[in-house]
Amino acid sequence: MPRSTVARIDLDALRFNYRLASEKAGNARAMAVIKADGYGHGIANIAGALANEAGKYAVACIEEAFAIRDSGCRQPVVLLQGVHAAMDLRDCVANDFEPVLHCHQQLQWLAEGPAPKIWLKVNTGMNRLGFRPDELPGVVAALEDAGQKHQLIGFVTHFACADDPDSTMTVQQTRCFETATAAWPELMRSVGNSAAHFRSGQPLYDWSRPGIMLYGASPMIGKTGPALGLRPVMTLQAPLISTRMVQAGESIGYGAAWVADRETRMGMVAIGYGDGYPRHAGTGTPAAIGGKRIRLLGRVSMDMLAVDLTMAPEAREGDPVELWGPTVSVDEVAACAGTIGYELLTGVTSRVPRVCG
Ligand SMILES: Cc1ncc(COP(=O)(O)O)c(C=O)c1O
Repeated sequence: MPRSTVARIDLDALRFNYRLASEKAGNARAMAVIKADGYGHGIANIAGALANEAGKYAVACIEEAFAIRDSGCRQPVVLLQGVHAAMDLRDCVANDFEPVLHCHQQLQWLAEGPAPKIWLKVNTGMNRLGFRPDELPGVVAALEDAGQKHQLIGFVTHFACADDPDSTMTVQQTRCFETATAAWPELMRSVGNSAAHFRSGQPLYDWSRPGIMLYGASPMIGKTGPALGLRPVMTLQAPLISTRMVQAGESIGYGAAWVADRETRMGMVAIGYGDGYPRHAGTGTPAAIGGKRIRLLGRVSMDMLAVDLTMAPEAREGDPVELWGPTVSVDEVAACAGTIGYELLTGVTSRVPRVCG
């Protein structure tokens, strides 16, 4: 019998969050960003659950797009990094994948053979990928010369600071994008990670691209997903496998990193950094048992971690402990570990089965 450490995936919560994203997107449609294995939730689970709602999916690379097709979903899939080799363009044509064109090398590949529908990436200040605004006329002309201009369906850009309400950068990037693309009003435009959906007055044009909010985690600095009206999709849970009393002065675990200042009932939970639980979550990081909040003690091991059961005296071996989910948001755990919910959700390892409910 396998240990009962699982990531429970609530597909109703996913659909709720997608509908909230669509509502916030106004006249834009929301393409569901489901890269990195559906942000760790299982790409087939997520694609399937949104198949009747999302008009398009977005992923990083072609392998992920094939995983969506293998799951039986037929919607167009946007490849946010475009293709990594010329030969992939044929697969894009055959499978209704829409690569983003972000560099001259990809432009050259497009000129060589059959072209799928493409999006052109505009670098408005993120400075990761894309063409500068002053390069766009040349790129469009090159597509025209290659006989592929009709395959260009729109422009995309990506915001660097939409998660920070104090930053003016999103306004500047939006302005830059509008000016850069104004010469092609017949083409579509796509902006807007999750955070942009929470910025009032932010134009999202034809297609927004929500990712993290679909999974119920927060895209905003200093706020949790539930505080933004989102429902957590993943509940990470593991069984309590041992309980004991430790006396004042006794320590727990590696490095003897936590020492009891009084008699304390503690328990061991069957999950650790080998499952993707963050090792940097120290003493005091919240967890829950039976809906009651408890706290971690000492260092997280590869397969186990320790919790303080003072607040849950009725807890017994075999009881499920929530590491994150409805009682403790993944954003809170991330804050305790010095990271973001994105990293925790995508970091749950393959040792943890994803169970949809
Ligand atoms: C180009 C692009 N669009 C949209 C997203 C979705 O962002 P978020 O998960 O913050 O909503 C990402 C995520 O990294 C991205 O790279």
